[in-house]
Amino acid sequence: MKKLVVAIDGPAGAGKSTIAKAVAEKIDYAYIDTGAMYRAVTWKFVQTGHVYEDEFIGELSEKMTIEFQPKNGVNHVYADGKEITDFIRTPEISKLVSPLSAIPRVRVAMVAQQRRMGEKGGVILDGRDIGTVVFPNADVKVFLTATVDERAERRYKEFIEKGMQVNLADVKKDIMQRDKQDSTRPVSPLKQADDAIFLDSTGMTIEEVSAVIIKLIKEKQV
Ligand code: DC
Repeated sequence: MKKLVVAIDGPAGAGKSTIAKAVAEKIDYAYIDTGAMYRAVTWKFVQTGHVYEDEFIGELSEKMTIEFQPKNGVNHVYADGKEITDFIRTPEISKLVSPLSAIPRVRVAMVAQQRRMGEKGGVILDGRDIGTVVFPNADVKVFLTATVDERAERRYKEFIEKGMQVNLADVKKDIMQRDKQDSTRPVSPLKQADDAIFLDSTGMTIEEVSAVIIKLIKEKQV
């Protein structure tokens, strides 16, 4: 069977990671969470304690090795061999990652790693620019979204389940701010590829959304 490249793009909190992970498990594809890669660079930068400087962060991103290891339904993330899965989804990192991911040098470094990871196919990548920049010839492209209220609600629940102290209004504000930053930046802004399927997951379950995407993949695999 043909090993495809599947691109899932969309705004923050649209459920891309959850869906991409679920679909990858079902069809035995590798899953690459490109948002986690920008978060990993952000985490590493925070660790350095250095002042915010594009050149410094760009160089840091070029030297970093980021790896994924799926285990028991969790996509474990490693930066230079250290597990950072639980450290990259805090509100602090979420706030910083958006401006940091707009640094051109960081994007060049991450896109190169993503292309290497996906070049053999049999892979699902989720992010903002997969179908437009990273793999413009991806076999399946989905633009996954949901209303801002539903996206905020989903992220809020994730934080609460992890025992974090957050309030819904702040989570919604952060999501709206990131939507704006991610879609108005000059380099690789979040936008739907012309040939992507638009999928609004508002009110849909994970199983329902996964089933739609699996159907699209199966149609292309023959
Ligand atoms: O999907 P996420 O919320 O984990 O992504 C974190 C940030 O990384 C997001 O605000 C924008 C950036 N990002 C990006 O610029 N390009 C990608 N392909 C993935 C994420």
